[in-house]
Amino acid sequence: MLELDPLSIVKSIATAEISISGRLVDASNASLFGTVFSQTGEQEIPIIYKPIAGERPLWDFPDGNLASREVAAYQISKYLGFNIVPFTTLRDGPYGMGAVQQWIEIDEAFDLISFSQTDDPRLREIALFDAVINNTDRKIGHLLMDTEHNLFGIDHGVSLHSENKLRTVLWQWRGLQLTEIEKAQLQRFIAEREPITASLLNLITALEVDALFVRVSSLISAGIFPEPNGEWPAIPWPPI
Ligand SMILES: Nc1ncnc2c1ncn2[C@@H]1O[C@H](COP(=O)(O)OP(=O)(O)O)[C@@H](O)[C@H]1O
Ligand SMILES: [Mg+2]
Repeated sequence: MLELDPLSIVKSIATAEISISGRLVDASNASLFGTVFSQTGEQEIPIIYKPIAGERPLWDFPDGNLASREVAAYQISKYLGFNIVPFTTLRDGPYGMGAVQQWIEIDEAFDLISFSQTDDPRLREIALFDAVINNTDRKIGHLLMDTEHNLFGIDHGVSLHSENKLRTVLWQWRGLQLTEIEKAQLQRFIAEREPITASLLNLITALEVDALFVRVSSLISAGIFPEPNGEWPAIPWPPI
């Protein structure tokens, strides 16, 4: 089978008709597995579709919707120059507007539990990303290792709150110095504040966008990875 180029995959996921083939049973909201056809119509591209209409209301995330937060997290990963989040877009589907994300074929044999506690630089990048997006739900199951051993992060529906709520299984860098490269990545993000703000305001509140830039500035000035603040459970439950 011909390998599809990333741009055409993205275009199909953003525009082609979605057909649903199943529901993910371990999902807390309505998360549907489906496919779109490639532009030539010859290949099926797997996706996950999370319709806004299927979201359960959350007391701790009353504003907006989870799907928009997933898309915002994808955009932030791109703006940071990271490729953590699989392509994600907000679009219409069989159950209305929702987040549609490229499905990653995972390596079932890979031991993510042991891996998640190592100092692998890809995990470190995700730990920094989570500090930026204020992720409240970085479980081991929200890390995906694909069959070519690229690491991804998923399920960012409960992130980007304006109050600090970082909850993660990746605390191995807490209190450690950011590298000059990491600080430069964060500086570049700040330098692009205007275009980033313009696109995020379609997805999260103005207060949350401001809080995002405050977090990034504080990371740069503190120069270290965050530490648990003692007020908020630091590890998601269940952690897997
Ligand atoms: N893009 C993806 N590629 C592969 N598997 C995925 C993807 N997104 C979700 N999954 C799988 O589906 C499960 C449920 O998705 P998740 O995003 O965690 O939904 P929920 O918001 O309902 O918790 C995940 O734990 C993971 O196993
Ligand atoms: Mg989940």
